[in-house]
Amino acid sequence: MSDGISSAGPPIPPGRLPLGARSPGKCILFGEHAVVRGEPEVLFAIDLYTQIVARPAEAHRLNGSPDPVARHPYLARALAELWPDGSPLDLTVTSRLPKSAGLGSSAAFVAALSTILASVRGGLDRAELARVAYRIEQGAQGVGSPGDTTAVVAGGLLGVNAGKGEPIWAVADDGHRWEVRRLPDPGWTWVIGSSGVPRATGPAVAGVGRLFDAPGGPGRLEAFAEVARSGLDALLGEDREGVGGQMRRNQALLRAVGVSHPRLEAMIDAVAPACWGEKLTGAGAGGSIVALPRAGREMEAVRRLTRLGVPAWAVRVTAGGADTLGAGGPGPPVSGA
Ligand code: PMV
Repeated sequence: MSDGISSAGPPIPPGRLPLGARSPGKCILFGEHAVVRGEPEVLFAIDLYTQIVARPAEAHRLNGSPDPVARHPYLARALAELWPDGSPLDLTVTSRLPKSAGLGSSAAFVAALSTILASVRGGLDRAELARVAYRIEQGAQGVGSPGDTTAVVAGGLLGVNAGKGEPIWAVADDGHRWEVRRLPDPGWTWVIGSSGVPRATGPAVAGVGRLFDAPGGPGRLEAFAEVARSGLDALLGEDREGVGGQMRRNQALLRAVGVSHPRLEAMIDAVAPACWGEKLTGAGAGGSIVALPRAGREMEAVRRLTRLGVPAWAVRVTAGGADTLGAGGPGPPVSGA
């Protein structure tokens, strides 16, 4: 695709308040943490969504609470980027994504809100939406890569700095450049389980970053990159056993940099007999795991996790990224729109 527009997805159309938007969450298959240093990552948008409806108001409100801007850094950053002189908004947020679980709840909030604000301001090219969503998340979080925000804006299965697939856009900051490519989805079912152990991305990324800077760090980074490249080759070859094997190697690397957790290890042990591979997904130190079930054993994998008392879902790659709800978008019009 010479201009990259159609594989990047349609632009955000112009719209008026009241307006709704939704964004999928995401799941990282290979390369979390190393991607922060510009190494390859493979991830996909999942069919669990965050939805936001925005209405004009007398003062900003978030799910009925007054003064949300001071308490919500992602909201504050989004307004600063896309709504500098904007009027107050009454925002209603509903989400099927567990918070702080490594499944992209922050990225989905940022992407859905940015979609609304950009639409009201006259629409936006999707690559620009991905860049602004990254600036907002990075500004609120202080660390990280554009992987999460890019995945939820683009939808589908994506490689970041992984060299394969169709280029859709690039995102750069002062230190790194991340080239994003769309990959063919083999159509498999994945199983996600969420430990309920709370964690924050910032401290986990900082801790792993110290190890990447320590003696032996470059070798560690190269090991992460090699697993991501091998995992991607197996994925493109639709080789489930190969993908699962690389997921297990990736988990060993994540364990070695200290971001696994006894609860995640218990979940991994429980689900493994029904799966080709399984690993933590996201920053770790709590949060979630992703598993690739053996054919026909998807529900067994879910049951093996729910028996531990954790919520689990069978998910698929969702093709669509963040979008407005209503005319041209993925859902019914917002009442009054
Ligand atoms: O915030 P999480 O758990 O979705 O982690 C994102 C993955 C990291 O590579 C650890 C950070 C990043 O921004 O890429």
